[in-house]
Amino acid sequence: MGSTLLAIDIGSTDVTAIIAKNDLDYKINILGTGIEASDGINKGLITNIELASKSIQNAVLKARRSTSEPIESTVVAISGSYTKGIRSMGSVNVPNGIITEHEINQVMQMALYNATIVPEYEVVHVIPIFFKVDDSADVDNPLNMNGARLEVSVYIVTAKRTALTNLKSAFKESNIEITNFVLNGYATAISVLDEQQNKFGSLVINMGSTTTEFVCYKGGSILYTDFIPVGSNHITNDLSVMLHTPHNAAELIKIKYGSLLSNNNEDDHLAIKKIKIPRIGDEQVTEEISLVDIRNIIHARVEETLILVKQKLSRSGIADNLDAGIVITGGMSKLKGIRELATLVFENQPVKVANPKNIKNGYMNFDDSAMATIVGLLFYSLDKNRNFELDSNKKLRRKIIEKKAIPKEEAREIQRDIRQPGNKSNVDIKLKTEDPTQLPKISKTNKGKGMARFWNKVSEWF
Ligand SMILES: Nc1ncnc2c1ncn2[C@@H]1O[C@H](COP(=O)(O)OP(=O)(O)OP(=O)(O)O)[C@@H](O)[C@H]1O
Ligand SMILES: [Mg+2]
Repeated sequence: MGSTLLAIDIGSTDVTAIIAKNDLDYKINILGTGIEASDGINKGLITNIELASKSIQNAVLKARRSTSEPIESTVVAISGSYTKGIRSMGSVNVPNGIITEHEINQVMQMALYNATIVPEYEVVHVIPIFFKVDDSADVDNPLNMNGARLEVSVYIVTAKRTALTNLKSAFKESNIEITNFVLNGYATAISVLDEQQNKFGSLVINMGSTTTEFVCYKGGSILYTDFIPVGSNHITNDLSVMLHTPHNAAELIKIKYGSLLSNNNEDDHLAIKKIKIPRIGDEQVTEEISLVDIRNIIHARVEETLILVKQKLSRSGIADNLDAGIVITGGMSKLKGIRELATLVFENQPVKVANPKNIKNGYMNFDDSAMATIVGLLFYSLDKNRNFELDSNKKLRRKIIEKKAIPKEEAREIQRDIRQPGNKSNVDIKLKTEDPTQLPKISKTNKGKGMARFWNKVSEWF
């Protein structure tokens, strides 16, 4: 069984903490969950270490109520507001002719070495866009391939050192040591995209409370990442200022009556045209405001935000990589009609509003767009299908290789096959344990049925 992980998403609305580990089948097993309202955090940045630390501590304490397992690693999502992405390449010779994790690590480190990192920035991810083995391009996974030369093209995410240090300080106050940072947009893409969207390329837009982060994600890698300091709280502020109503009333109006659809049949049916809202200063006094006016205010802000995303995307020159279209998630994506409006703004690109892949558990419903980042952190850390990359410690993240137990009956059959009189193969087998990636060569005469099955099993173990 895997080690116990604490994953934390520090949003501007909530801090979410999840304790989880892999079970025996490498599935993600949730052990505890906690949500606490955020304080001292704005636009992904720590604005008050003491307050932020309290929110983090309370979220972790809540998650701790259902488990006492010692936490072995802590992974924290960081906002794209203080990150920069750059591309680089690396290449190395493969002295033994077979690519092992050693060469994969070497080539990624070389790509990092070749990149120019701004001095006040730290590396968060080095993600391969593609590998090349000799002349064959676009290799997804070069492990165990034969070749003389390994090349890699990478996307490097770096983050402002001071912002990371403030985060570390807020966690230290709560006696938590951060093991790894993960870019919010990267985690979000991992949690919401299906196989096809990942393969053909999608723009994932995470619309939160104070930020809208977006990444272009294709083939398991980031190709581009950007951010706008606008989120659903801006809608609330607009409503509060323009309708002269208190902030909490504006938030309720947004959630209850907010819609971007011009014909909201539901309300037509109920014949709601106007609602009564309290006024700032004297909350006993209410005023009737038309729903059309409320929706126009919401529409203007959301349309502007999506247009800003589109403009940044057009300038990036990456738009051709989005064959699977656009996927919107985050709390703001709960607004009715956001898919229709985004389809208009992005000129008929396919648009989907998505919740993260659900991890069944007895504590919390992950089938919610506001959970996209935290679920992504769990998949990043505990999914067995994860990719090679250098993490925020510049360490190679290995693929988890399942050590399948051979069913008893099958094992007995294999043994019988090997011990067959006349089958000399058992004499010839020498497992070179000093180099597990190097499988022994079998001569043609030994390629009996039983041997083939034996070697299939051996290669599965490694
Ligand atoms: N139905 C809705 N319509 C519009 N906004 C909504 C709706 N439901 C929730 N929200 C907004 O979603 C936001 C919370 O979403 P989320 O949890 O994704 O943000 P966050 O991660 O805390 O913020 P950030 O990532 O910007 O720091 C709040 O601003 C809330 O008002
Ligand atoms: Mg968020």
